[in-house]
Amino acid sequence: MRSKTKTIGILTAGGDCPGLNACIRGVAKAAIHYGIQVIGVQDGFRGLVENRTITLDSAAISGLLTQGGTLLGTGRDKPHKIVMGGKSMDMTEVAVANMRRHNMDCLVCLGGNGTQKNALRLRETGNIPVLTLPKTIDNDVAQTDVSFGFDSAMAIATEAIDRLHTTATSHHRIIVCEIMGHDAGWLALGAGIAGGADVILIPEIPYDLEVVARHLTERRRNGKRFSIIAVAEGVRSKHSISQMQLEVNHNKKKKKDKERDKEELKSPVPQDPNDEELHLVQEPVASRIARKLQQLTGTEARVTSLGHVQRGGQPTAHDRLLSTRLGTKAGTLLAEGIYDVMVAIQGGEAVPVPLSSVAGIKKLVPRDHTWLETARLVETCLGDEL
Ligand code: F6P
Repeated sequence: MRSKTKTIGILTAGGDCPGLNACIRGVAKAAIHYGIQVIGVQDGFRGLVENRTITLDSAAISGLLTQGGTLLGTGRDKPHKIVMGGKSMDMTEVAVANMRRHNMDCLVCLGGNGTQKNALRLRETGNIPVLTLPKTIDNDVAQTDVSFGFDSAMAIATEAIDRLHTTATSHHRIIVCEIMGHDAGWLALGAGIAGGADVILIPEIPYDLEVVARHLTERRRNGKRFSIIAVAEGVRSKHSISQMQLEVNHNKKKKKDKERDKEELKSPVPQDPNDEELHLVQEPVASRIARKLQQLTGTEARVTSLGHVQRGGQPTAHDRLLSTRLGTKAGTLLAEGIYDVMVAIQGGEAVPVPLSSVAGIKKLVPRDHTWLETARLVETCLGDEL
């Protein structure tokens, strides 16, 4: 096939994860196969604005498949709102000019939700062709069944839960393990089920610590003297949600009736064992939950926050395969001259989907998702009252 694309730029943006290098390699190898020249842009969109590039020829991509991180470097900058010389600037025109300088026909962007949005914005305001690939340990990119990086992070978090099990058992403790995921609970849920966590708390299901405490007490009564709790970093208590709702209603009322509002402000905020001080201090959520559960159950509690360990190291075989499939499919689409799409996995196939149907949408865990049912059927408490 004669390629319709001659030259591409490729960048990685947002948080890194295992599988990025494998995907860069997949795109580049397929592109080179079709005779496309590949230019690597360093450190995400900032590198495009600052015109920092490297040539990605066969030698440059050799040995990448198994390496963690990204050889291009990454960053969370947005071309339309980037800090330059201490000031936030719109550098879209500069980014576009640099693409033209290198004769790039298309900019390939590997990233999560933020990157999908930034790429679409570049397309719309800069009028340049883009193609994206779904990367994130959070697994929350829309339109794709799975994103690369997720499986590797899930394997790391599962292994951590396995290790916590043995020490929690020895000491008869509650161990709360904080797992990444601000808005989506896929990682905590997947690793929690795979690691056999006794409680899994995710942002999509507001938790009630009294329900959790009852579950832990029941376990103890049944002779299980330890418990593992997998907590996504973005969890919210049931009480804090109703508190937020209270505040919204309160603000609406304020506009209508200032006098009545004054009276309301005098009345004390309703107290709840879930939340006393819980949202007043800047303490990691897992630590706040552990402290409250220790109080409520009388069992000693400890906390482990997995943090960026979940994003480090080599990709799993699953992620290597996924990244390579997505990357090579991207190369083929570029050769066919298909742009402005994200390469997704749907029903096991790598397929292009319009970028406009992805950007700005987060794939959260639906309340009727089969993984939730699975968790409940193995007696995992999800922090809600059934
Ligand atoms: O977006 C992926 C992610 O790993 C989230 O799960 C996490 O909350 C965030 O990135 C952490 O970002 P940073 O590396 O900037 O601390």
